[in-house]
Amino acid sequence: MIVAEHAVKLELADVSKTYERKGQAVEVLDRVNFSIYEGEFVAIVGASGCGKTTLLRIVDGLESASMGAVRIGGKLVSGPGRDRGFVFQQDNLFPWRTVMRNVTFGLELQGVKVKDAREAAQPYIDLVQLSGFENHYPHELSGGMRQRANLARAFAIKPELLLMDEPFAALDAQTRELMQDELLKIWERSSKSTIVFITHQIDEAVFLADRVVVLTSRPGRIREVVPIEFGRPRDLSLKRTPEFVAVIDHIWGLIEKEVKSAMISREE
Ligand SMILES: Nc1ncnc2c1ncn2[C@@H]1O[C@H](COP(=O)(O)OP(=O)(O)OP(=O)(O)O)[C@@H](O)[C@H]1O
Ligand SMILES: [Mg+2]
Repeated sequence: MIVAEHAVKLELADVSKTYERKGQAVEVLDRVNFSIYEGEFVAIVGASGCGKTTLLRIVDGLESASMGAVRIGGKLVSGPGRDRGFVFQQDNLFPWRTVMRNVTFGLELQGVKVKDAREAAQPYIDLVQLSGFENHYPHELSGGMRQRANLARAFAIKPELLLMDEPFAALDAQTRELMQDELLKIWERSSKSTIVFITHQIDEAVFLADRVVVLTSRPGRIREVVPIEFGRPRDLSLKRTPEFVAVIDHIWGLIEKEVKSAMISREE
């Protein structure tokens, strides 16, 4: 929910990004202005190649903006920080660590003792329903279970800002729906980090988010910010209501042409 008195957690002020490629400047992001409030869940959608991942990498401090500024809690971002967690498209669990040791990894990096890290990690493992699998290695898990372990790992460090780049893209449709449900549960039951979630799937964005940011094709600009006013907690049956479908249609109408032309230029 957007509550007016909530503090701004993340501020993007006129963020532009240009890459050099073969001596030519490629404009990827063009003056993106946007603020996200503490505890808010914001999803970003837009055609392939419009600069979504680039935007997230700039927020994470892995890349710098060519122009403009990114502030987290009022402080200018100048590099990666422990206040942020990043979940990638593919789960990036360490294959040589068990589920438990993967989930405790971030805590160990913070200097938490192994025993204390295990105690802190267990509720997150339980929350994603991996109790009993603590000593399994990633290759012993299904894709959905791996991505659940990945979520537990991301939440276990209690990041103030969680950046998620198409985390469910590799999953089959059914597992993906269950993971959407799972993500909302873990978010609502934990300390409600501020989340920025990138997806290609409009229904995923609308189901999860408080607001959906629709980007234009490259260079990415904000086309529209769509408030999603469905109450919480949300149930997957929401997706079958006419109100939900109407929001999907609206967003699809905003990006249809661009998504189709991005597909064609990929095929060429
Ligand atoms: N390091 C780089 N050097 C040059 N160009 C880059 C670099 N990284 C990304 N680009 C270009 O920037 C544009 C945006 O890339 P980005 O990965 O941010 O898009 P995206 O919206 O995440 O796409 P997708 O939906 O396919 O993941 C693309 O045209 C890409 O080729
Ligand atoms: Mg991307």
